[in-house]
Amino acid sequence: MMNADRPVVAEGSTVCSVVDALIRSRRTVRAFRPTPVPKSEVAEILDVARCAPSNSNTQPWSVHVLAGESKRQLSEALALSHERNELPPSRHFPDDLPAACASRQTDFGARYYAALGIDRNDAPARNRQSGRNLCFFDAPVGLIFTIDSRLTKHSWADCGMFLQTLMIAAKARGLDTCPQVSFVRYEPLISEFLRLPSTQSIVCGMSLGYADTDAAVNDLGMPREPVENFSVFWGFDARG
Ligand SMILES: Cc1cc2nc3c(=O)[nH]c(=O)nc-3n(C[C@H](O)[C@H](O)[C@H](O)COP(=O)(O)O)c2cc1C
Repeated sequence: MMNADRPVVAEGSTVCSVVDALIRSRRTVRAFRPTPVPKSEVAEILDVARCAPSNSNTQPWSVHVLAGESKRQLSEALALSHERNELPPSRHFPDDLPAACASRQTDFGARYYAALGIDRNDAPARNRQSGRNLCFFDAPVGLIFTIDSRLTKHSWADCGMFLQTLMIAAKARGLDTCPQVSFVRYEPLISEFLRLPSTQSIVCGMSLGYADTDAAVNDLGMPREPVENFSVFWGFDARG
């Protein structure tokens, strides 16, 4: 069943055309079809993701994979906490977010709420939408990534590479993802639910499943800066 769903490659494709197309076609997906994802498929994706590099091969990532009743129970507990607004909001960004990042964040918000038909000034509607993170946007599989709290930002970068490798391996199998920092606010609840040792911190969550291709929210087309805006080349031309 799984292999039949997998995207096929056009005859004569080069490796780079296939890999580039996969990377370029990955989008954050926030509306999923109910089609289940078999455990073997998730395990296979994780088997690819574990090839991600890490500093001194420390492989600092851990992941909890939730489906069915486990996912439902966790989501229900988180939704209740969200409704009661009982935990302090977690701070994903500093107050003095650099201006270039702040303007991209504003652009993201504008596109996101427009696609959902939510007025940006409608705080209750925005709050309800934010709560949708906690049911993994109804994806059949939810993942929670953790790291040992003693590790520093360098090891968190390793986790980022693991996440991206996982997302591309998923995409290669016709599956889509949404990485989600939103779960961090609920760390105390999630830690209790997953019986995490006190040495583990939550990096983020992730929704995994088959995209609802009719949903406008899955087609935000988030823009990227051109290479020259974030790169400095040294020593490539005669001037050194
Ligand atoms: C570490 C990380 C955390 C994110 N957290 C959330 C989240 O909590 N909820 C959400 O809807 N999207 C989340 N996103 C998705 C970003 O909004 C998205 O990657 C960005 O807007 C670029 O869009 P694209 O992934 O479709 O290219 C997160 C992405 C990353 C990498």
